[in-house]
Amino acid sequence: MHIHTASKSQLEAWSTELEADYADISQRGLKLDLTRGKPSAIQLDLANALDSDLGGDYRAPDGTDVRNYGGLDGLPDMKALGASMLEMPSENVLVGGNSSLTLMYQTIAFAWQLGVGESGTPWSQEPAVKFLCPVPGYDRHFAITQAFGIEMIPVPMTDDGPDMDVIECLVADDHAIKGIWCVPKYANPTGCIYSADTVSRMAKLGAVAADNFRILWDNAYAVHDLDEFQPLTSIFTHCERYGTQDSVIQFTSTSKVTFAGAGVAFMGASAANLNGFKQQLGLATIGPDKVNQLRHLRLIPDRSSLLQHMAQHAALLRPKFAAVLDALEAAFADSDLAEWTSPQGGYFVSFNSRPGLAREIVRLSGEAGGVLTPAGATYPGGLDEKDRNIRLAPSFPTQADIEVAMAVFVVCVKLASVRQALAAA
Ligand SMILES: Cc1ncc(COP(=O)(O)O)c(C=O)c1O
Repeated sequence: MHIHTASKSQLEAWSTELEADYADISQRGLKLDLTRGKPSAIQLDLANALDSDLGGDYRAPDGTDVRNYGGLDGLPDMKALGASMLEMPSENVLVGGNSSLTLMYQTIAFAWQLGVGESGTPWSQEPAVKFLCPVPGYDRHFAITQAFGIEMIPVPMTDDGPDMDVIECLVADDHAIKGIWCVPKYANPTGCIYSADTVSRMAKLGAVAADNFRILWDNAYAVHDLDEFQPLTSIFTHCERYGTQDSVIQFTSTSKVTFAGAGVAFMGASAANLNGFKQQLGLATIGPDKVNQLRHLRLIPDRSSLLQHMAQHAALLRPKFAAVLDALEAAFADSDLAEWTSPQGGYFVSFNSRPGLAREIVRLSGEAGGVLTPAGATYPGGLDEKDRNIRLAPSFPTQADIEVAMAVFVVCVKLASVRQALAAA
């Protein structure tokens, strides 16, 4: 289907066909959901041994009785596991609670109130605070910066990560820019992996940015490959080379390794950043949930068991991603209606319609029983100026449901495109 070159009569013929298909789908009473990137129940089942693996033995490998208070940093072996995910030394890792998003929120809250590291000017005392937001990106990141009233500046994503030419100019020119959100491996939602050049240039930003500028490096999908493990260049190693270790704070978690609601989160940062963070964290808690840390260590004691565990997730996720991509390929490969990403891992496929149609497609699909992530969610403030990006999340529904949801989606994309073209004809 090539809308751009189609005659009016061809558009009318397609319209008649698609309106009938849509009416047919709409009356089927479907209830399908491709919205949030949650693991499915069978993925969660892979970690069910967490339920019983302590068996009354509460001693961690280092001898700690995990039932008691203390250990603000986390158990040494858990720090080592986090270090292997973040690819940085254990002494630079802090083990948090069940959510890396909480650690990100706290990082910003502490920076806002008291400053970053051990002595930076609190962001709240700055005349203006701005953040760079690669787009499309993760809605919950943008929600945090929005909640603090931080001005968000969208930066376009490329296949190699955010556009570094744009970022380098902005960061050097405007010291009101205090940070940037990054998902460096299998970015949410495009699925790209930042190239070695992008990582190296990111690591250099600290040399030209404001002193209290921080890269929030959310490596949520560090080990979430669909096939072979794909390496990500270590930003911390590059920062050590350029002397910019304080400019980056890393995060990851086991939310999509074990239990999404009861996993373990990690933060990796320079000694100065970590000490500043711990000073505040130590006021709020006497220590994290080390019982959960030990349960995790019994299930996944090291990196090699982690990767074996992730291979089981991959086996469950591969056919679901294939179902989405096959449907898109079959419907749109020979068309001018859409473009989309084919990620090697992570949780999402990013889809772009013709401009001005994403909201309409999401509306049509929702009304026919196929709920999609709201259009615009992948942009700061929910504002996708071109109104074309839709995030598809195949992990949670069954494969059969994905196939039906994608059939609905395809009809909605075609119908919205044909209606738009006819209105302009
Ligand atoms: C990029 C990214 N970061 C963080 C999270 C949430 O992580 P956590 O469960 O550790 O808070 C998600 C969840 O979808 C995500 O996509």
